[in-house]
Amino acid sequence: MRHVLAFALLFVSVAAAALPPVDLPPMHHLVNIKPSKAVTVPRDFPLNHRGEIVCETCHGIEDIEDIPFEEVDKREPEFLRAGPYAKTTMFCYRCHEEKAYRRQNIHDLLDERGKYDEKACEYCHQKAPDPEKEYTREQLKLRLPPETICLGCHLKTPHLNALNHLRKPDKKMRRRMQAAERKLGIILPLDEQGRIMCVTCHSPHERGLIDVNKPAGKQVAGGDLKEGVVYGDHPWDTVYRADKQARLDKLQGNARPVKLHYRRLRSEVLLRLSAKDGSLCLACHAFER
Ligand code: HEC
Ligand code: HEC
Ligand code: HEC
Ligand code: HEC
Ligand code: HEC
Ligand code: HEC
Repeated sequence: MRHVLAFALLFVSVAAAALPPVDLPPMHHLVNIKPSKAVTVPRDFPLNHRGEIVCETCHGIEDIEDIPFEEVDKREPEFLRAGPYAKTTMFCYRCHEEKAYRRQNIHDLLDERGKYDEKACEYCHQKAPDPEKEYTREQLKLRLPPETICLGCHLKTPHLNALNHLRKPDKKMRRRMQAAERKLGIILPLDEQGRIMCVTCHSPHERGLIDVNKPAGKQVAGGDLKEGVVYGDHPWDTVYRADKQARLDKLQGNARPVKLHYRRLRSEVLLRLSAKDGSLCLACHAFER
């Protein structure tokens, strides 16, 4: 099943063909389409008279199509119908089959023998690069600029502190980053404007695709890509939430509601350095300890 893989790339073209004369945010889910057998729409998600999915199917905000996008209140629990959802994917699974869907992890590039399928690379690269070679960013021929390539499938706010990190580090921080790159043998790539992007902290590839002794291949080990990031429950959870929720609400503004939990990161994947032991944060920040 190619659903998720196709998300970013398909939508641009499919959307243009299937859309009503209403503008949709970039990379938005397609609308005005009758669900096939592969999709199960819950009974309380209304379809239009032709049995097609429309704005109201997914959004519980009245006349959302008439509201300018920036003014849509994404914190409204019904922004995604029957929400809020802890993860957007949980919303997707209301209609799409979770099991079939989950398997399609684009980062899961290597098979049991450590081989890869060049087609998988070509969801992000126009042509599969050779992991043994060195490339400039231009030669990598990414299908979208590296600062936006993750956003068709992931939110701009996949987790707390992601969005407010997509900024330009000041000179002092740049120097600290360069020192960390040298000392730890990693890369912390920035976008063309010198801003932090998703791949500054995250590696887009499964560990081992690029030799782990090369800076671009060095990333945290141990986590299971199929399981993703795993958190453990923590007895402080309730206290932590009560303390932080008010502050968080203020910070978030119009962003999606974030369910805050004090959870221990148990295993990490696709990170250039560990956040669990703080080394990722310390590559940029100098925290008092
Ligand atoms: C199949 C489900 C589905 C349908 C149908 C749908 N949407 Fe969405 N929409 C989503 C999802 C999922 C998001 C992303 C939510 C997020 O960013 O967390 C979204 C996001 C949005 C946003 C916020 C974009 C942003 O990032 O600020 C707007 C506005 C929106 N949709 C409008 C519409 C309109 C108008 C229609 C009808 C023409 C529509 N949607 C139909 C699922 C749907
Ligand atoms: C209200 C039900 C509903 C929800 C919720 C929903 N989808 Fe869909 N989605 C559909 C329907 C209907 C289609 C049309 C294709 C079909 O029926 O098989 C579709 C098609 C797609 C496609 C195009 C692939 C293809 O088969 O052409 C992708 C990719 C996709 N959805 C991803 C998502 C993601 C990601 C989410 C969550 C952010 C999501 N969907 C949430 C109903 C839904
Ligand atoms: C999810 C998107 C995605 C997929 C899939 C993907 N890549 Fe990449 N790749 C990237 C991004 C983004 C960069 C650039 C990171 C940066 O700016 O340094 C990159 C960089 C690279 C680099 C250069 C690393 C360096 O900085 O020296 C190589 C080599 C590479 N990819 C090979 C592959 C191969 C081989 C595959 C398929 C097995 C693949 N990629 C699949 C997104 C992807
Ligand atoms: C400053 C570093 C940093 C940046 C920038 C960043 N992340 Fe993360 N991300 C992390 C860390 C650390 C985790 C591990 C879990 C956690 O602490 O939330 C994580 C976890 C994740 C997860 C798994 C979340 C979960 O709960 O399962 C996804 C998906 C993700 N990031 C995507 C992104 C995307 C997409 C972007 C760009 C919009 C991004 N990240 C930007 C550091 C970062
Ligand atoms: C074509 C869709 C697609 C693109 C593009 C994409 N991802 Fe993912 N990503 C996935 C899927 C599917 C998973 C598996 C977990 C899930 O279903 O959310 C995943 C998982 C992750 C995880 C682990 C989260 C967890 O706990 O499971 C991180 C971190 C992540 N992606 C970061 C990125 C970054 C950074 C980029 C940009 C270089 C990116 N992704 C581009 C589809 C995509
Ligand atoms: C790639 C560099 C980089 C990494 C890695 C990084 N940060 Fe940041 N962080 C920044 C930048 C840039 C800002 C923007 C504000 C500033 O200049 O201090 C920021 C801001 C913050 C803020 C303030 C948020 C706000 O809204 O003002 C906190 C808290 C924070 N980081 C915590 C962390 C933690 C915890 C980690 C590790 C999981 C981490 N950072 C990893 C660069 C980084």
